[in-house]
Amino acid sequence: MSTFTNTLFVGKVLLRINKLDSTNNYATSLLSKNKPSEGTVISAWAQEQGKGQIGRTWLTEPGKNLTFSIIFYPRFLIAKEQFILNQAIALGVFDYIKQICPNSKVKWPNDIYVNDKKICGILIQNSLSGAHIQTAIVGIGLNVNQQNFPESLPNPTSLRLETGQTFDLDQVLENVCERIETRYLQVRANNYTLIQQEYLENLYRFQEEALFEYPGGATFSGRIVGISETGRLMIDHQKGTESFDVREVRFIL
Ligand code: BTN
Repeated sequence: MSTFTNTLFVGKVLLRINKLDSTNNYATSLLSKNKPSEGTVISAWAQEQGKGQIGRTWLTEPGKNLTFSIIFYPRFLIAKEQFILNQAIALGVFDYIKQICPNSKVKWPNDIYVNDKKICGILIQNSLSGAHIQTAIVGIGLNVNQQNFPESLPNPTSLRLETGQTFDLDQVLENVCERIETRYLQVRANNYTLIQQEYLENLYRFQEEALFEYPGGATFSGRIVGISETGRLMIDHQKGTESFDVREVRFIL
C-alpha cells in the first residue's frame, strides 16, 4: 500500500517496519536526527517492547494488530493544555471503533473500551519548549485480529472478537488515521469545547456508581463527575469531590 489518500498530512509519510522495539522509540530517534514531516506514521508488523502508560508494557501478537505512532508538532498548545490532545486522539480512535462496535466508550484518560473490555491503548509522549509543546509522539495499540490474549492481561478484546470478522490492517490504519487527523484539526482550530463535550458524552462510567482503588489497595465507591482542565479525573465520593491523576486511582468495576 502506498500512502493515505483521504488525509491532508497524516500518513503522507508512512514508514512500515517489520520488527522493532517500540514505534514510539523509533519516532523519538527520528526526531533526534532530523525533522520528520508532521503526520509521519511509523507502523510495525511486530513490536517487541511496546510501552504502555505509567511504565507498563504493551503486548501484541505480530501481524495481528496495529501498533503505530504519529508525529505531530502542536506548538499552538501550551503545556497545561496538553490533555486536550489526549482527548482529541482518543475521540479520533473512538470515532472509528464506534462505527464497527456500537457499544464503545472512551475510558479515562485515553483508552478505548468495547463492552467493558479494552480494545485500544494510547501513549502520548510530549516534549516541551518553554511553555509550549514542541513535539507529540502519539502511540496507538489497537487490537484488530488477535483472538487469544495472555492471561496476564486483565480484560482485552479485539475487533475480531467483538464482530467475528477479520479486518484488513492497512485499511484500518488508514481509516483510523483519517479520524485522528479530523480531531487533531479541531484542536488546531481551537474547538476545545466540542472535544471536551464529546469526550464526556462518551466517557466510560460517567455519572455512574463505580468501584475505584487507591494505589495502597483501599477501595471506594464513587461517581465520575468530570475531568479537570489538566485532565484529572473528578470523582464524587463519601469525602466529597476528589481529583486524581492516572497514578492515583484505578477503576475496578
Ligand atoms: C496503554 O494502554 O498503556 C498504552 C499502550 C500504548 C501502546 C502503543 S503500541 C504503539 C506505540 N508504541 C509503543 O511502544 N506504545 C504505543
